[in-house]
Amino acid sequence: MKLILGVAGGIAAYKAAELARLLMQEGHEVQVVMTPAAEEFVRPLTFAALTGRKVLTNLFAIESAIEHISVAQEHELLVIAPATADLIARMAHGLADDFLTTLYLAFTGPVVLAPAMNVNMWQHPATRANLDTLRGRGHRIVEPDSGYLACGMTGPGRLADPEIIAEAIAREVHQRRDLEGETLLITAGPTQEPLDPVRYISNRSSGKMGYALAEAAVARGARVILISGPVHLPPPPGVEIINVRTAIEMREQVFAHLGPADIVIKAAAVADFHLSKVPDQKVKKTAARISMELDPTPDILAELGRKKGDRLLIGFAAETQNLQQEARRKLESKNCDMVVGNLVGVSDSGFESDQNEVILVLRTGESIPLPRAPKREIADHIFDHVLKLRLALHAANGH
Ligand SMILES: Cc1cc2nc3c(=O)[nH]c(=O)nc-3n(C[C@H](O)[C@H](O)[C@H](O)COP(=O)(O)O)c2cc1C
Repeated sequence: MKLILGVAGGIAAYKAAELARLLMQEGHEVQVVMTPAAEEFVRPLTFAALTGRKVLTNLFAIESAIEHISVAQEHELLVIAPATADLIARMAHGLADDFLTTLYLAFTGPVVLAPAMNVNMWQHPATRANLDTLRGRGHRIVEPDSGYLACGMTGPGRLADPEIIAEAIAREVHQRRDLEGETLLITAGPTQEPLDPVRYISNRSSGKMGYALAEAAVARGARVILISGPVHLPPPPGVEIINVRTAIEMREQVFAHLGPADIVIKAAAVADFHLSKVPDQKVKKTAARISMELDPTPDILAELGRKKGDRLLIGFAAETQNLQQEARRKLESKNCDMVVGNLVGVSDSGFESDQNEVILVLRTGESIPLPRAPKREIADHIFDHVLKLRLALHAANGH
């Protein structure tokens, strides 16, 4: 495939050389485009030697006056690694003040971005908003790793490993459309159960796993109905989003939309308990201890297990211990076809993290551990196994 590798001016620019080498080794044709700042970190000669092509850097020192347009048209995928905060901002706002950003605007194919920056730059609301804009355009973001950064700080911001970026590119290149014609009902996020008009109980679910599943399913061609509890994430482009707050609302919407669904994935962390009679007025603070009696919320997964018909039902089990046994118990007691077991409460995996490490427990008796990886990647592995499982179940039923 003909790829453009855009390199921006960050400390991690040297790692782009390794990425260029990997992409060449995989048989791609790689055209490197550098920002002027990137040239301060690595000389274009490094990339020219690795790719066997002249590196494009200067908008005004090129052979043809419209080279940025022809380069955009001749290539099938644009990957930017490292993507600096500055470049991400310029892309989000449509600036075209160098070769790379001008080319970006003229480019109509898929875009993969691997950001790298200082942790505070990464967490700055401006960067978050710009990345949300780029995600909203359907660009794939390869999340940076956490760890020791060149600036001496520790946290997220380190460029993902070149192998991980190459894998994200491979997924984009070989994007399977194996969910075309299918309707998926996915639930995500926590629920909030009111205690009075201003207070609620909830849990630490961020919704990231359910949203990653929805994004992956859309990319693979599915129609996706996403029923989401309150989260701080933009809905993935192309999904039909239904926002709910409580477990009762979640249940109502799940059964209202069950009809067309072929596959149901319950990734939401629905609250297990709620107050069935919520006071009309705010409960006043006094010196006295108060107690509230909580009732169990409706068990949506168990009800789905009874009503699923021929649909595939996939549940999630968030556990702090005995993961595999608990996932298997849930699979059997709720009549699921697969349960994704998720160890929560361990560092940098599970609820609020961008990464996850899960075990898939299948109706066929198999248990498949998936090593720690970005949630978007885990989502694709889950779908690979869901489709295999369906074939195995059909074969077992003599279809
Ligand atoms: C030593 C040094 C290291 C830098 N590292 C980064 C970085 O890792 N990420 C980043 O977003 N900006 C980094 N910057 C800032 C960018 O170089 C600066 O924002 C520049 O305008 C980026 O230009 P570009 O986006 O056109 O490549 C660094 C600057 C210096 C001087």
